[in-house]
Amino acid sequence: MCGIVAYLGHRQARPLLLEGLKRLEYRGYDSAGMAVINGGLHVARAVGRVSNLEALVTADPGFTGTLGIAHTRWATHGGVTEANAHPHRDDTNGIALVHNGIIENYSALRTYLTERGHVFTSETDTEVLAMLIGELYDPAHGMDLEKAVQAALREVTGAYAIAVVCEREPDTLVCARKGSPLLVGVGSGEFVVASDASAIVAHTTQAFPLDDYNVCKITREKFTTSTIHNVPVTPRVEQLELDLEQIELGGYSHFMQKEIFEQPRALRTCMRGRLDAAEGTVVLGGLRQFAPQLVRSRRVILAAQGTALHSAMIGEYLLEDLAKVPAECEYASEFRYRNPIIEEGTVVVAVSQSGETADTLAALTEAKERGALALGVINVVGSSIPRITDAGVYLRAGPEIGVASTKAFTAQVAVLTMVSLFMARRRFMSAEQCGSLIRELEQVPDKIERVLELNDSIRAITEKYVERENWLFLGRGYNYPTALEGALKLKEISYIHAEGMPAAEMKHGPIALIDDGMPAVFIATRGSQYEKVMSNISEVRSRGGHVIAVATEGDQEIHHHAQDVFYIPDVPECLSPMVAVVPLQLMAYHAAVLRGHDVDKPRNLAKSVTVE
Ligand code: G6P
Repeated sequence: MCGIVAYLGHRQARPLLLEGLKRLEYRGYDSAGMAVINGGLHVARAVGRVSNLEALVTADPGFTGTLGIAHTRWATHGGVTEANAHPHRDDTNGIALVHNGIIENYSALRTYLTERGHVFTSETDTEVLAMLIGELYDPAHGMDLEKAVQAALREVTGAYAIAVVCEREPDTLVCARKGSPLLVGVGSGEFVVASDASAIVAHTTQAFPLDDYNVCKITREKFTTSTIHNVPVTPRVEQLELDLEQIELGGYSHFMQKEIFEQPRALRTCMRGRLDAAEGTVVLGGLRQFAPQLVRSRRVILAAQGTALHSAMIGEYLLEDLAKVPAECEYASEFRYRNPIIEEGTVVVAVSQSGETADTLAALTEAKERGALALGVINVVGSSIPRITDAGVYLRAGPEIGVASTKAFTAQVAVLTMVSLFMARRRFMSAEQCGSLIRELEQVPDKIERVLELNDSIRAITEKYVERENWLFLGRGYNYPTALEGALKLKEISYIHAEGMPAAEMKHGPIALIDDGMPAVFIATRGSQYEKVMSNISEVRSRGGHVIAVATEGDQEIHHHAQDVFYIPDVPECLSPMVAVVPLQLMAYHAAVLRGHDVDKPRNLAKSVTVE
């Protein structure tokens, strides 16, 4: 979602801020803006791409200066207009502010500020915060920018990451955070603040994340951190675990393509050091301390959104099937508001690539308050969810930049498989059985590599159907969530209407949609429900649908049923989603490219949804 970059140092801020904004483009946005202090305050904002903003500021000599803030906005309060884009200003002191998150009590604050004579020019909650800081700003009486920000933040409820400048303090940058990530990068004689490490790493690898309710005042010489109540805090500057190569395209055309092809490597890294086939054990350092509680757990609830929900659904199957523990999976957004029952022995697992999804974070907070053991299956190290969990397992999939999640999905399923085996082995599973599943799991990256070799034929088959506007994705058992994920991938980036569902459910309504030539993608790998899936395929064929099947190598029978077949290597049913999803990811990718869409920046979508 929204992105923040800010700079104070010895270099020109403008090119640095623009480069930072471009690195944040992947998060999804609809407008961009920048403020630079150069004598006075210079602000430019533009709807659309960062390149539109670039055209404005590059032509304007006002934007030469070494202190600046910049933003990409994803509209929440107020439409996509220049007036609503950040930075927002106060009306008196030359203060400008960029903001991620939502100020929940903005309406009451706006009424108060309007009564005090302030005139608003946008519909945003952010302008209210800028105006409030301006209202409190009074350097003659000790209310300098830092103090005014602290005081304003004591009045607001909601979530924020902000960066603030003031033309009357040309050597000061103030930033703060509550509930929305913000990192302070500490270079040599310069500071880069950003909502995402990818905008910092090209300049410095030393950084610290701001904690909730903390305010950081940066001057040209140093930084100081305090709470909003002005209590000093000492942050720990750490090495960023990210290098430039990971966030650049390499030889690929799109990040999504790169990330699909990175899956074998990501999974090997995810599993490295965690599996011991000879002993039949899974070693998960993060969970070790909680092993007794996990063994005794009576129920596991998995909460997530989007793609992470689909991997969590597979986790539900895995936990029941392998660890024999009752498990259920739910949209975090629904779980949170339905007054969930958390009894003794309940474990709640938040699954999230970013670790920032507002609904997932809120669901886990709620579950923890009700006494659940709170676990996280997260990719981004140090993000908000792992900061509140009791324990967890990181994916180690590396940064995922493409908005449509791919390698995080397979890594989430791999981690949930390992968590299930970790519990299973301590409950009912023999070392032998666990060892043999581990050996199979270790082969999954090689098997994905073989599926990736099908890239050209997948593209050719996708081309045949790419003009069709309605698709179905069908699967059973472990591959019902795979079908949901296949449909989601296609929707997200190619804007084709696609529905995923359990193959048996089709008869209860969706079958009415099938007309001549409608593509229906079946996950029809060898497994316990193979024959049933064949019957469902016949139901589609007999109504004129075109069946594209993902089948197991060596299955000749499938050609009697499906018009097009992608063969994947044989893999035990419980591990099959990690392999079966790959052709579906590639189909979605090719469909989007063939339709001429911007694969990595699909319309209306954000990589990480930090508002409810
Ligand atoms: C957004 C993204 C999806 C993602 C979902 C959950 O909607 O566009 O790709 O699956 O958020 O994100 P998370 O970071 O929690 O996995």
